[in-house]
Amino acid sequence: MKALVLAGGSGTRLRPITHTSAKQLVPVANKPVLFYGLEAIRGAGITDVGIIVGETAAEIENAVGDGSQFGITVTYIRQEAPLGLAHAVLIARDFLAGEPFVMYLGDNMIIGGISGLVEEFRHTTSDALILLTKVDNPSAFGVAELGADGRIIRLVEKPADPPSDLALVGVYMFGLAIHEAVRSIKPSGRGELEITEAIQWLVDGGYDVAPHLVEGYWKDTGRLDDMLETNRHILESIEPAIHGTVDEHSTIVGRVVIEEGASLVRSTVRGPAIIGRGTRLVDTYVGPFTSIYHSCVVERTEIEYSIVLERATIRGIGRIEDSLIGRDAEVVPSSALPKAHRLMIGDHSRVSVATS
Ligand code: DAU
Repeated sequence: MKALVLAGGSGTRLRPITHTSAKQLVPVANKPVLFYGLEAIRGAGITDVGIIVGETAAEIENAVGDGSQFGITVTYIRQEAPLGLAHAVLIARDFLAGEPFVMYLGDNMIIGGISGLVEEFRHTTSDALILLTKVDNPSAFGVAELGADGRIIRLVEKPADPPSDLALVGVYMFGLAIHEAVRSIKPSGRGELEITEAIQWLVDGGYDVAPHLVEGYWKDTGRLDDMLETNRHILESIEPAIHGTVDEHSTIVGRVVIEEGASLVRSTVRGPAIIGRGTRLVDTYVGPFTSIYHSCVVERTEIEYSIVLERATIRGIGRIEDSLIGRDAEVVPSSALPKAHRLMIGDHSRVSVATS
């Protein structure tokens, strides 16, 4: 069995949460979301992995390399434009070479891996296995309508009026019939060859498409709460490790990772939390469920249940909770008059200022 990982898409700002160009590299607990997928694939015993790349190919290839860091062999497959998930299958045909495969969307994360599902698929005669999960915003996903017998009746892509709350998770297992399906469908209203329609083609043609309900799923839909919650979940099971330097006036409590080159000066980190490589904490308190990515500076601040992306600076502004601070962002006090908030906030941002 092979794996096809989709890490293409355009390099425009994809979601408000980060302005990273490749959304598959958004970090959860200081690790790009794509890496969780590659680890899940390796964990299921699959080592031959094709990665679809687009405009952000350089960024993805730079992060993943030849795959040896994950114990896999990677073949990069260039997609000239994001023409759809089914289009990715179309262009990967030679790579897949007549083998069943797992298709994994690089911006999805299944907590707990996919080993059981891959094993199940290896032993069935189904033509496809799709994963579904209950969500409270089905319109942001492909949605499945199941019959009373639990079989799939219909799949619809991002319906305005969803027939159920069962979203298609971005992990699919396919046998060989999918190749004919992706050749048979036409581009959708949004100009893409939709995998949802290719699967519907299988269902309509009497092929066996098995649905499987899963829990513990995350995709960046731009909702901060979801991102913080997933970060919390992953941090709860990190292996504590101190690689950076901690001065004698600093304290570490609980499940904490201090990455290489990170330094704590008169600071307290109360886990679960992770402090990225090269990050410097001075006179700071980091509370539970916080991930601070690499090369940040945090001084005279209390921060809890938050995510801070790379190279951000936070200095002397009191307490921060439930927050996401983007790449290279600066949050600093000002003594300039008139006394006022001075903001430079990116598109789709949200700032809530505590007023007394
Ligand atoms: O995440 C689950 C959802 O993924 C499903 O519920 C939907 O049915 C499915 O269509 C898909 O929806 P999205 O519109 O959210 O997919 P998105 O455009 O975000 O692409 C998913 C991943 O695949 C992302 O890592 C980018 C990559 N991609 C996407 C397209 C359209 C490619 O590599 N090539 C492409 O042509």
